[in-house]
Amino acid sequence: MARKKIALVGAGNIGGTMALVLAQKQLGDVMLIDIAEGVPQGKALDVMESRLPMNIAAVIAGSNSYDDLAGSDVVIVTAGVPRKPGQTRNDLIGINLPIIKQVGEAIKTKAPNAFVIVVTNPLDAMVYAMQKITGFAKEKVVGMAGVLDSSRLACFVAMELGVSADDVQATVLGGHGPDMVSLYNSVSVGGIPLPQLMDKETFAKISKRTADAGTEIVQLLKTSAFYSPAICSVRMAEAYLLDKKSVLTCAAKLDGEFGVKGGLYCGVPVVMGAGGVEKIIEIEMTEEEKAAFAKSVASVKEQCDFVDTQIK
Ligand code: APR
Repeated sequence: MARKKIALVGAGNIGGTMALVLAQKQLGDVMLIDIAEGVPQGKALDVMESRLPMNIAAVIAGSNSYDDLAGSDVVIVTAGVPRKPGQTRNDLIGINLPIIKQVGEAIKTKAPNAFVIVVTNPLDAMVYAMQKITGFAKEKVVGMAGVLDSSRLACFVAMELGVSADDVQATVLGGHGPDMVSLYNSVSVGGIPLPQLMDKETFAKISKRTADAGTEIVQLLKTSAFYSPAICSVRMAEAYLLDKKSVLTCAAKLDGEFGVKGGLYCGVPVVMGAGGVEKIIEIEMTEEEKAAFAKSVASVKEQCDFVDTQIK
């Protein structure tokens, strides 16, 4: 059986990291595509030259042409600009929406059967635009944010309790912005419900840090995070390619689920397998969490309304 093909549109910080991780995990051949001349080719060659010590056979290639999307099983999109200190994700919409339009039109014609994962910010609006532009089934177009936000929450809970982060299960819902919602009752530590281990006040501080985690890194790094977004995107590609039926929080299209109408994209728990988003899981929330989720959805709606004015 031929290896799967994974195209990465955007060969910047996240794209380059994903190429390395995908190669290491042997999930398929990787095609890096970027408008910057030499960058995708150079990064691809750099990863290619590490194949002997990595003990892998996958082919990693770079290109400046969207024609090389052809035959892709998965396309992961990071094309666009990242945040600089002082910028919110929403500040990027005017620059990144035309880029998503260009990339989406190329995916539609060159890779009509691909599973598309969008990472470019502002995430919820960009994935909404991508599905609108490609016209692909909603199950085949998702956004990467909830996996990252949940991983950040798990990290901070583990740091607070002094336990291993891989023993922590956590769920963060809503838009990928400052009003994302961390669910207290949905965190477990080695199977133990978090309310037995941590009081609500401490959790409130941790959930605030989670919501601001991207900004914390932008302030330190002067650009946005890339290792963890890359790893979390690969996790989603892996769930699809290996038909894992993984339960992950992703930006998925909502047509009435969680009471959200209008086809908005928002972070919710899904089952991800070979069918893409195979199921949306409508978990129970407290009244307080429901109100916070509604506020987050309202922010996402504002962004999507803007997309609707630009893309018919
Ligand atoms: N087609 C292909 N690639 C493009 C296009 C385009 N139309 N426009 C820009 N790019 C490329 C840039 O040349 C750059 O190499 O996208 C790449 C983006 O890489 P970085 O600037 O390093 O940004 P990165 O940190 O990877 O983040 C990318 O993901 O998490 C989000 O907020 C982040 O929107 C940002 C995106």
